[in-house]
Amino acid sequence: MPENTETKPAEAAAPPAGPAAAGQKPPAKKPTESKPRVEPDKMRRRLIWTCIWGYLGVNFLMFLRFFFPRALFEPKTVFSIGYPSDFGLGVDTKFQREYRIWVDRVPGRLFVIYARCTHLGCTPDWKPAENKFKCPCHGSGYDNEAINFEGPAPRPMDRAHVELDATGQIIVDTNRLYVRDLKAGRDEFDNPGAYLPA
Ligand code: FES
Repeated sequence: MPENTETKPAEAAAPPAGPAAAGQKPPAKKPTESKPRVEPDKMRRRLIWTCIWGYLGVNFLMFLRFFFPRALFEPKTVFSIGYPSDFGLGVDTKFQREYRIWVDRVPGRLFVIYARCTHLGCTPDWKPAENKFKCPCHGSGYDNEAINFEGPAPRPMDRAHVELDATGQIIVDTNRLYVRDLKAGRDEFDNPGAYLPA
């Protein structure tokens, strides 16, 4: 059978649809909006520089730290605490924080107690209501002259060296301690320098 190659005249003459048909140019395509692409090479370079600057920064901080050593500043061991008349009868705790001492005045003498428990070295608390020192660590108790009477403390608390300077002020030296340890046959509480007559 012969193929029908005839084109319908209506189809062949059909004008193109759309703006072209009206003699207009087709609208320009809008560029699609996209985020600026960071190239992988750029990213890698940025990361490497961040690491380098971070490393240098840490090293610089460590270098600065070198000028601020972790030093413990010990309190002075020889110092003045004022005149004997500045102290009334009883225990004065105003130098405890600064110098770890208490000034104790009893009828006839003034002495300085080094605030260190003779059991394991904690700092006891002065309990004015109970007229005694009490160690918070293991419960040792000391009377108002720092003589032990309860708990594991083996002996009274030590006393620091005291003397008067040329102006009559009390100079304390906590490097020179007077000890009462009767088991060891040692009793230095009446030695010159262990107290001031007052
Ligand atoms: S240290 Fe004071 S009782 Fe143990």
